[in-house]
Amino acid sequence: MAADNLTLVEHPLIQHKLTILRNRETPTAQFRQVFREIAFVLGCEATRDLELGEVEIETPLERGTFPYLNGKKLCFVSILRAGNGFLDGLLDLVPSARVGHVGIERDEETLQPRRYYFKTPDKLGDRLVIILDPMLATGGTAIAAASALKEAGAKRMKFLCLVAAPEGASAFSEAHPDVPIIAASCDRKLNDVGYILPGLGDAGDRIYGTKC
Ligand code: URA
Repeated sequence: MAADNLTLVEHPLIQHKLTILRNRETPTAQFRQVFREIAFVLGCEATRDLELGEVEIETPLERGTFPYLNGKKLCFVSILRAGNGFLDGLLDLVPSARVGHVGIERDEETLQPRRYYFKTPDKLGDRLVIILDPMLATGGTAIAAASALKEAGAKRMKFLCLVAAPEGASAFSEAHPDVPIIAASCDRKLNDVGYILPGLGDAGDRIYGTKC
Protein backbone atom coordinates (compact mmCIF):
# COMPACT_ATOMS: atom_id res chain seq x y z
CA MET A 1 0.00 0.00 0.00
CA ALA A 2 2.93 2.32 -0.70
CA ALA A 3 2.16 5.89 -1.72
CA ASP A 4 3.81 7.07 -4.92
CA ASN A 5 4.58 10.52 -3.62
CA LEU A 6 6.04 9.47 -0.25
CA THR A 7 9.73 10.25 0.37
CA LEU A 8 11.36 8.61 3.39
CA VAL A 9 14.33 10.44 4.83
CA GLU A 10 16.77 7.84 6.05
CA HIS A 11 19.45 10.14 7.42
CA PRO A 12 21.14 8.43 10.42
CA LEU A 13 20.51 11.42 12.69
CA ILE A 14 16.82 11.25 11.88
CA GLN A 15 16.59 7.53 12.51
CA HIS A 16 18.51 7.87 15.80
CA LYS A 17 16.31 10.71 17.02
CA LEU A 18 13.16 8.87 15.96
CA THR A 19 14.15 5.91 18.17
CA ILE A 20 14.48 8.28 21.14
CA LEU A 21 11.00 9.61 20.37
CA ARG A 22 9.53 6.12 20.07
CA ASN A 23 10.91 5.08 23.48
CA ARG A 24 8.16 5.32 26.08
CA GLU A 25 10.80 6.09 28.75
CA THR A 26 11.86 9.37 27.08
CA PRO A 27 10.84 12.18 29.43
CA THR A 28 8.79 15.16 28.22
CA ALA A 29 11.62 17.71 28.16
CA GLN A 30 13.87 15.46 26.09
CA PHE A 31 10.98 14.43 23.84
CA ARG A 32 10.18 18.08 23.08
CA GLN A 33 13.83 18.95 22.42
CA VAL A 34 14.43 15.97 20.12
CA PHE A 35 11.17 16.67 18.32
CA ARG A 36 12.44 20.14 17.55
CA GLU A 37 15.80 18.80 16.36
CA ILE A 38 14.30 16.16 14.09
CA ALA A 39 11.96 18.76 12.58
CA PHE A 40 15.00 20.86 11.70
CA VAL A 41 16.69 17.99 9.84
CA LEU A 42 13.47 16.94 8.10
CA GLY A 43 12.96 20.59 7.14
CA CYS A 44 16.26 20.51 5.24
CA GLU A 45 14.84 17.71 3.09
CA ALA A 46 11.50 19.45 2.64
CA THR A 47 13.21 22.60 1.38
CA ARG A 48 15.87 20.95 -0.78
CA ASP A 49 14.30 22.17 -4.04
CA LEU A 50 13.81 25.82 -3.11
CA GLU A 51 14.69 27.95 -6.10
CA LEU A 52 17.92 29.84 -5.74
CA GLY A 53 18.51 33.16 -7.39
CA GLU A 54 21.73 35.10 -7.37
CA VAL A 55 23.01 38.17 -5.62
CA GLU A 56 26.07 40.24 -6.24
CA ILE A 57 28.02 41.02 -3.10
CA GLU A 58 31.50 41.83 -1.96
CA THR A 59 33.40 39.41 0.24
CA PRO A 60 36.22 40.99 2.27
CA LEU A 61 38.46 40.05 -0.70
CA GLU A 62 36.51 40.54 -3.93
CA ARG A 63 33.19 41.11 -5.66
CA GLY A 64 31.20 38.15 -6.92
CA THR A 65 27.82 36.64 -7.70
CA PHE A 66 26.51 34.04 -5.26
CA PRO A 67 23.42 31.86 -4.71
CA TYR A 68 20.64 33.52 -2.72
CA LEU A 69 17.05 32.65 -1.95
CA ASN A 70 14.66 35.18 -3.38
CA GLY A 71 11.01 35.39 -4.22
CA LYS A 72 8.14 34.88 -1.83
CA LYS A 73 8.76 33.41 1.55
CA LEU A 74 7.89 29.95 2.68
CA CYS A 75 4.76 29.32 4.65
CA PHE A 76 4.64 26.64 7.33
CA VAL A 77 1.18 25.55 8.29
CA SER A 78 0.95 23.81 11.63
CA ILE A 79 -1.91 21.43 12.19
CA LEU A 80 -2.74 21.94 15.85
CA ARG A 81 -1.59 20.84 18.21
CA ALA A 82 1.25 18.41 17.48
CA GLY A 83 2.24 20.45 14.40
CA ASN A 84 3.41 23.17 16.78
CA GLY A 85 6.08 20.84 18.14
CA PHE A 86 7.42 20.62 14.57
CA LEU A 87 7.03 24.33 13.94
CA ASP A 88 9.70 25.30 16.47
CA GLY A 89 12.36 23.30 14.62
CA LEU A 90 11.25 24.55 11.21
CA LEU A 91 11.41 28.16 12.38
CA ASP A 92 14.93 27.54 13.69
CA LEU A 93 15.74 26.56 10.09
CA VAL A 94 13.84 29.37 8.31
CA PRO A 95 13.19 32.16 10.82
CA SER A 96 11.63 34.44 8.20
CA ALA A 97 8.94 31.96 7.11
CA ARG A 98 5.29 32.91 7.44
CA VAL A 99 3.13 30.68 9.60
CA GLY A 100 -0.44 29.49 9.40
CA HIS A 101 -2.40 27.42 11.88
CA VAL A 102 -5.12 24.95 11.13
CA GLY A 103 -7.16 23.40 13.89
CA ILE A 104 -8.57 20.11 12.78
CA GLU A 105 -9.18 17.51 15.37
CA ARG A 106 -9.96 13.91 15.00
CA ASP A 107 -13.28 12.89 16.46
CA GLU A 108 -12.08 10.00 18.59
CA GLU A 109 -15.30 8.06 17.97
CA THR A 110 -15.81 8.49 14.22
CA LEU A 111 -12.09 9.18 13.49
CA GLN A 112 -13.40 11.87 11.06
CA PRO A 113 -11.79 15.36 10.92
CA ARG A 114 -13.55 18.38 12.43
CA ARG A 115 -12.20 21.91 11.62
CA TYR A 116 -12.28 24.45 14.47
CA TYR A 117 -9.58 27.01 13.50
CA PHE A 118 -8.07 28.32 10.26
CA LYS A 119 -5.70 31.27 10.00
CA THR A 120 -3.10 31.63 7.24
CA PRO A 121 -1.01 34.43 5.72
CA ASP A 122 -2.27 36.05 2.52
CA LYS A 123 -0.95 35.31 -0.99
CA LEU A 124 -0.67 31.60 -0.24
CA GLY A 125 -0.56 30.97 -3.98
CA ASP A 126 2.83 32.71 -4.22
CA ARG A 127 4.43 30.64 -1.47
CA LEU A 128 5.65 27.11 -0.98
CA VAL A 129 3.31 25.86 1.74
CA ILE A 130 4.68 23.12 3.98
CA ILE A 131 2.00 21.46 6.06
CA LEU A 132 3.27 20.18 9.41
CA ASP A 133 1.64 17.28 11.16
CA PRO A 134 3.96 14.77 12.80
CA MET A 135 1.65 11.75 12.61
CA LEU A 136 0.00 10.84 9.30
CA ALA A 137 -2.43 8.26 10.67
CA THR A 138 -5.75 7.75 8.87
CA GLY A 139 -4.98 10.74 6.65
CA GLY A 140 -8.36 12.36 7.40
CA THR A 141 -6.94 15.45 9.09
CA ALA A 142 -4.15 15.86 6.55
CA ILE A 143 -6.52 15.55 3.59
CA ALA A 144 -8.94 18.06 5.11
CA ALA A 145 -6.10 20.51 5.84
CA ALA A 146 -4.68 20.30 2.30
CA SER A 147 -8.16 20.78 0.82
CA ALA A 148 -8.79 23.82 3.03
CA LEU A 149 -5.42 25.30 2.04
CA LYS A 150 -6.15 24.77 -1.65
CA GLU A 151 -9.50 26.56 -1.16
CA ALA A 152 -7.56 29.40 0.46
CA GLY A 153 -5.35 29.69 -2.64
CA ALA A 154 -2.36 27.43 -1.97
CA LYS A 155 -0.94 26.02 -5.21
CA ARG A 156 2.36 24.44 -4.25
CA MET A 157 2.37 22.34 -1.09
CA LYS A 158 4.31 19.62 0.67
CA PHE A 159 3.22 17.56 3.63
CA LEU A 160 5.87 17.02 6.29
CA CYS A 161 5.39 14.36 8.94
CA LEU A 162 7.53 12.25 11.18
CA VAL A 163 5.75 8.92 11.02
CA ALA A 164 3.25 7.85 8.40
CA ALA A 165 0.92 4.86 8.44
CA PRO A 166 0.66 3.10 5.08
CA GLU A 167 -3.11 3.62 5.19
CA GLY A 168 -2.79 7.40 5.72
CA ALA A 169 -0.02 7.86 3.17
CA SER A 170 -1.99 6.09 0.51
CA ALA A 171 -5.29 7.91 1.32
CA PHE A 172 -3.47 11.26 1.24
CA SER A 173 -1.72 10.53 -2.08
CA GLU A 174 -5.01 9.51 -3.62
CA ALA A 175 -6.76 12.69 -2.45
CA HIS A 176 -3.81 15.03 -3.16
CA PRO A 177 -1.47 13.43 -5.73
CA ASP A 178 0.10 16.84 -6.32
CA VAL A 179 1.31 17.16 -2.71
CA PRO A 180 4.52 15.23 -1.92
CA ILE A 181 4.74 13.62 1.52
CA ILE A 182 8.04 13.66 3.39
CA ALA A 183 8.41 11.38 6.42
CA ALA A 184 11.09 9.78 8.58
CA SER A 185 9.30 6.43 8.61
CA CYS A 186 6.35 4.59 7.18
CA ASP A 187 5.34 2.30 10.02
CA ARG A 188 3.52 -1.03 9.96
CA LYS A 189 -0.17 -0.18 10.29
CA LEU A 190 -2.92 1.55 12.27
CA ASN A 191 -4.45 -0.09 15.31
CA ASP A 192 -8.21 -0.26 15.72
CA VAL A 193 -8.43 3.20 17.31
CA GLY A 194 -6.35 4.92 14.62
CA TYR A 195 -2.94 4.97 16.32
CA ILE A 196 0.18 4.13 14.35
CA LEU A 197 2.02 0.88 15.18
CA PRO A 198 4.73 0.82 16.37
CA GLY A 199 4.58 4.65 16.25
CA LEU A 200 5.43 6.82 19.23
CA GLY A 201 2.05 7.22 20.91
CA ASP A 202 0.07 10.43 20.93
CA ALA A 203 2.53 13.06 19.70
CA GLY A 204 0.60 16.00 21.20
CA ASP A 205 0.37 14.37 24.62
CA ARG A 206 4.05 13.50 24.58
CA ILE A 207 5.19 16.99 23.47
CA TYR A 208 3.03 18.80 25.98
CA GLY A 209 3.02 16.21 28.77
CA THR A 210 -0.77 16.12 28.91
CA LYS A 211 -0.95 12.42 29.70
CA CYS A 212 1.41 10.50 31.94
N1 URA B 1 -1.85 10.84 16.26
C1 URA B 1 -0.83 10.58 17.10
O1 URA B 1 -0.37 11.48 17.81
N2 URA B 1 -0.31 9.34 17.13
C2 URA B 1 -0.77 8.34 16.38
O2 URA B 1 -0.26 7.21 16.46
C3 URA B 1 -1.86 8.61 15.50
C4 URA B 1 -2.37 9.87 15.45
